[in-house]
Amino acid sequence: MSRVDLVTGAFGFTGRHIAKRLLDRGIQVRTLTGRAAPPNSTIEALPYSFDDPVRLAKSLEGVHTLHNTYWVRFDHRHATYKAAVSNTRSLFRAAQAAGVRRVVHVSIANPSENSDLPYYEGKAQLERDLIDSDLSYAILRPTVLFGDRGILINNIAWLLRRLSVFAIVGSGAYSLQPAHVDDLARLAVEAGDHDGPQVSDIAGPETYTYEDLVLLIRDTIGSRARLVHVPTPIGLWTARAMGLLLRDILVTREELIGLQRNTLVSQEQPRGQIHLSDWLREHSDSVGTEYISELALHYRAKV
Ligand SMILES: NC(=O)c1ccc[n+]([C@@H]2O[C@H](COP(=O)([O-])OP(=O)(O)OC[C@H]3O[C@@H](n4cnc5c(N)ncnc54)[C@H](OP(=O)(O)O)[C@@H]3O)[C@@H](O)[C@H]2O)c1
Repeated sequence: MSRVDLVTGAFGFTGRHIAKRLLDRGIQVRTLTGRAAPPNSTIEALPYSFDDPVRLAKSLEGVHTLHNTYWVRFDHRHATYKAAVSNTRSLFRAAQAAGVRRVVHVSIANPSENSDLPYYEGKAQLERDLIDSDLSYAILRPTVLFGDRGILINNIAWLLRRLSVFAIVGSGAYSLQPAHVDDLARLAVEAGDHDGPQVSDIAGPETYTYEDLVLLIRDTIGSRARLVHVPTPIGLWTARAMGLLLRDILVTREELIGLQRNTLVSQEQPRGQIHLSDWLREHSDSVGTEYISELALHYRAKV
């Protein structure tokens, strides 16, 4: 029998890249998702059943490695950080009950149980749970991801293509170290093959200040937008107003605070190989031509 891995959200952003690499290696892929499988997909799609431990464990039966990408970007309606932590705990318990051999858990760079930012606090709590469990684990901590469907870089480019003025919140001197989603997928698949405990940041080979990142995107796509610095409350107010027009949440207060605290930078040697500057050059005609809406992806029609 060939190996079966389960990737949560295999039709989403990171999950799709992990699933593709597994399929390319001849590994069967099962997924838990709220989406319908695309036509001709070879991935077995099962619904999330976090409230039904027996059904959840059954979904994980025969699974070699569970690659967990499940999380919520912000509290919205029923999808809260609290619910995501509780659901992920159910998933870990089900993996243990089903005898899953390895869990590769996608976390975030610089999580902290003492953080006042619930995203970072929740991720740290889940890491602790996994480390304290009897499961064999690898925890991967990406900084911020780029690639097709990578929201942050794409939507900055989208704004730069359309606006004559682009607002940089605060000094713009805080840094980011973006990693390509396929580097994460490669490292996730590798981590699934190993046995020992692993906790690794996933960061790219280039670090930029936020202002330099925006300038790089602007210059690469040929935008003429002028950059202006605005205080955080004005930046948030502007993002909220644009969110109303776009029927989306562009950025949250917590995300801006995290960014300004340099949480999207790693202190480890970069494991990512793909340079954002190269990728942007290769995709200068397409990046940001379409807006990617978090609310459309997860709260309106699923695609
Ligand atoms: N994207 C980044 O820049 C970045 C940076 C650092 C860490 N990460 C981590 O990487 C992992 C994957 O992120 P991603 O950007 O690839 O996310 P994604 O594809 O949008 O979503 C990943 C998974 O979470 C589920 N999900 C997301 N939002 C949801 C909601 N509101 N309600 C219910 N389910 C929801 C998706 O379910 P469906 O299958 O139903 O869509 C999917 O299973 C997450 O753990 C995230 O914290 C991402």
